[in-house]
Amino acid sequence: MDIIHSVADLRARLQGVPNNVFVPTMGNLHEGHIQLIDIAKPRAACTVVSIFVNRLQFGPQEDFDRYPRTFEADCRRLRKAGVDVVFAPDEKEIYPEPQTFVVEPSDLQHILDGAARPGHFRGVATVVLKLFNMVSPHSAIFGKKDYQQYIVLRDMVRQFALPIEIIPAETVRAPDGLALSSRNAYLSPKERREAPRLYKTLRQAHGEIIAGARDFQRIELHIMSELANHGWRPDYVAVRRQADLQAPTAADRDLVVLAAARIGKTRLIDNVEVFLER
Ligand code: PAJ
Repeated sequence: MDIIHSVADLRARLQGVPNNVFVPTMGNLHEGHIQLIDIAKPRAACTVVSIFVNRLQFGPQEDFDRYPRTFEADCRRLRKAGVDVVFAPDEKEIYPEPQTFVVEPSDLQHILDGAARPGHFRGVATVVLKLFNMVSPHSAIFGKKDYQQYIVLRDMVRQFALPIEIIPAETVRAPDGLALSSRNAYLSPKERREAPRLYKTLRQAHGEIIAGARDFQRIELHIMSELANHGWRPDYVAVRRQADLQAPTAADRDLVVLAAARIGKTRLIDNVEVFLER
């Protein structure tokens, strides 16, 4: 496994590789990330993983400084997972000058997580476009855990005609249902015991919709109050259609219920897809 820090060395290493598959990350790797690598490997002549905590996607009050950085342990995991190239640039390598050109994901960046985190998806789209230009992957894998991020990047690739296949991966969960996340490390033991409720309430919403409920606003309010009753501060709970994360019409069959809520100081997100019969 090659650990590479500069764009020049990365380009030299990947020159002539017929098929490289890319998994961008911010490190502090867990089984969710490893699953993306397991999906990449059989498709790839070369599996490339980046580790870069991207300041541009964090708000001024967010956790950029305390985001867990575990480079040595990450490299051990990646070696074991059979990764070929780790790209671990420092900030100057990605942002040698102030980033005055950015990717604006238009409408999508202002709803749901974007409403709670102004500038977040602009920062994500901008760094991922840069990473794509550095790695020139044939495919890239993204987790559906960050559903809106996946949709934003899928649309970016389509609208800019980037020759990259975007492959979504299912959310990996702890046995009690909690979606794996680097931010779970912030939870106190008590909060960790409460945390699976987020997924549990989303599953409840899934069950109600499958059973025929169509008053989505009632479902959203019900989940929000259920969470609030257990000490959470929900940012949003929303039933949307998968295609563009807008409110569903009666004709939409492929839905997704998304939620973000704070427990103590930690903000968790999760979602559950709902497929209605056609
Ligand atoms: P990060 O949070 O490190 O996530 C890297 C990738 O792992 C993303 O595609 C994310 O959706 C996926 N992932 C995280 N937890 C997962 C889980 N429990 N199950 C399945 N996939 C999971 O997302 C980012 O980094 C950044 O925004 C990035 C795209 C790297 C741009 O900076």
